[in-house]
Amino acid sequence: MSAADDHGRRNRRAWNRMADQYQEILAEMGAPGELTWGWWRHSEHQLDILGELTGRDVLDLGCGAAGWARRLADHGANVVGVDASARQLVHAAAAACAGRPAVALVNGDAERLPFADASFDVAVSNWGALSFCDPHVAVPEAARVLRPGGLLVVCTSSPIYWLCTPPDADQPGADLRRGYFDMHRSPGNTGTVRFQLPYGGWIQTFAAAGLTVEALIEPTPDPDTVIPKHLDQDTWRHWLANWPFDVIWKVRKPTRR
Ligand SMILES: C[S@@+](CC[C@H](N)C(=O)[O-])C[C@H]1O[C@@H](n2cnc3c(N)ncnc32)[C@H](O)[C@@H]1O
Repeated sequence: MSAADDHGRRNRRAWNRMADQYQEILAEMGAPGELTWGWWRHSEHQLDILGELTGRDVLDLGCGAAGWARRLADHGANVVGVDASARQLVHAAAAACAGRPAVALVNGDAERLPFADASFDVAVSNWGALSFCDPHVAVPEAARVLRPGGLLVVCTSSPIYWLCTPPDADQPGADLRRGYFDMHRSPGNTGTVRFQLPYGGWIQTFAAAGLTVEALIEPTPDPDTVIPKHLDQDTWRHWLANWPFDVIWKVRKPTRR
C-alpha cells in the first residue's frame, strides 16, 4: 500500500485515538436543541435540506457517537450509522437510551460500504466520512447505495478554508496559504488525512457518479456561536464572519425514466 492510499488506516487509527477528546469538545459546545449542520450548527429547520424524514431509510456516513443519527431517528427516519472507528461507535452505543428510537450501528468504511445497491433514500455526511475519504471513491459508493430519487448531503469544510489554512494547522488566516489546483489529499496535524476538491472538482465528481447538484449552501454562523476554548477566539470569530467554513452540498440521484 502506498503512502497515498493508506488514508483509511490512518484515519481509523487517529479517530480511535481522538474519540474520547472529540466527545469532550462536543460536550463543551453543549447539545444543540435541534438537528444542525456542521461545526457551527446551522439549523436544518431553517435550511430545510432533508425534507420529510418519517419512514425514510437514512445512512449516516461517519456517524461518530451518533448524536446526529439519533436526531434523524427522532424525526421518524430508519437510521443506519456507519463509522470506521470502533471507539467512536463505543460512544455511540453508550449514548443509546430507553425511550428513543434505535439506530443501527455498523463498523465500516465509507469507501467500501457493506450495503446492497439502492438500500437508502438519504445518505448524509455531517463532517463525517466524506471529509476523510477520497471523494472520487466515496461519492460513487454513496451514489451506489442510494435509491433512484435519493438524496446525498455532504457537509464539510469549504475549499476557501483549505486555501486559507497551512497544511499542518487548523486555524485559517486571511491570506491564501495553499494552491487551488492540486487540492485533494492533506495529512493534517492530528494524524488524520482530509480530502477536499476545488468547486469544479466536486461538481465533476458528483456528475461522474450520476448525481445532480441541487444546491451548494454556504451558511453564515450565528455571531454568538460557541467556539471551543482550545481555538483562538478572535481569529475564528473574524474568519467565520467573513468567509464560509461549513458548506453543504445537496445532490440527488435521478429517478429512473
Ligand atoms: C468529525 S467526526 C464527525 C462525526 C459525526 N458525523 C458528528 O457530526 O459528530 C468524523 C467521523 O468520520 C469517521 N470516518 C472517517 N473516515 C471514515 C471512513 N472512511 N468511513 C467511515 N467513517 C469514517 C471518523 O471515525 C469520525 O467518527
